[in-house]
Amino acid sequence: MDFEHVLVAGAGQMGAGIAQVVAASGRRVSLYDAAPGATERGRAAMRKSLEKLAEKGGGDPDEVLARVTAVDELVQADLLIEAVIEDAAVKEELFRRADELLPDGAVLASNTSSIPITSLAAVTARPDRVIGMHFFNPVPVLKLVEVIRAVQTSDETAAAITALAEQLGKVPAQANDFPGFVSNRILMPFINEAAYALMEGVAEPEAIDTIAKLGFAHPMGPLALADLIGLDTCVAIMEVLHDGLGNPKYAPCPLLRQYVQAGRLGRKSGRGFYPYT
Ligand code: CAA
Repeated sequence: MDFEHVLVAGAGQMGAGIAQVVAASGRRVSLYDAAPGATERGRAAMRKSLEKLAEKGGGDPDEVLARVTAVDELVQADLLIEAVIEDAAVKEELFRRADELLPDGAVLASNTSSIPITSLAAVTARPDRVIGMHFFNPVPVLKLVEVIRAVQTSDETAAAITALAEQLGKVPAQANDFPGFVSNRILMPFINEAAYALMEGVAEPEAIDTIAKLGFAHPMGPLALADLIGLDTCVAIMEVLHDGLGNPKYAPCPLLRQYVQAGRLGRKSGRGFYPYT
């Protein structure tokens, strides 16, 4: 399996980043998004990122972008990487449609950060060829790909996706399909606890983030990171951990919920724990 043509579904922050690294590896990419204007915004984000990388000796942005075609419906490809919204029903419907359309040998991968890969596999007629391929934001910069095996995933599929991650210049790490996998099982309680520390008046946001940055050598503090990820996404992932693991320690912090209710979603809405211009 060499995945010469990849269909990326979802042209948001993650989908555009994934399309970019796949195209930069020399593969052809079809970028699909149902929302009007989304693929154009995705291409603009890719260009900005590619220009930053070109300043540091990366490839020609035009050359990479020439391998990316925006499409307004699903198309046949060797591999689907799905990065649409974190909604199980939306993802399952997309997997059903892709399963009908893509050739039998194609692999269907999801970039989900929390939805069970096993249930996405179960809606298809090729459950052995369904897998999680979880990238990290900003995708062009961060090296990790968490490869998540559904109960049904074959060894062949896992090996092919692990090899692909390496060919994209990433470092794969395998996890099994439990709520939040490994990454968000660790990260989200950290962010949630930081939100509790703020809510309970333990410290101001800047102090909480400074402690994580300088005390634990994290590149950014948990509250700034939550703003980057999106507070709505953080709440949704905590709910998956809470429902799936059944432990009250995973309940989303009320302050996180309140900010989401207020539309303070982080960088994407202009305000989260911090204001953004
Ligand atoms: N494309 C290309 N280059 C980029 C970029 C992008 N999108 N974003 C940043 N960069 C480059 C910058 O140009 C800069 O390059 P130089 O060092 O050569 O100047 C470098 O990356 C660092 O960027 P900045 O100087 O702007 O700022 P920084 O040093 O604070 O780094 C950061 C920014 C890379 C985002 C860094 O703070 C970081 O790694 N933060 C942690 C992010 C993280 O934890 N992400 C995971 C979130 S969890 C997730 O995504 C999955 C989930 O399931 C929720």
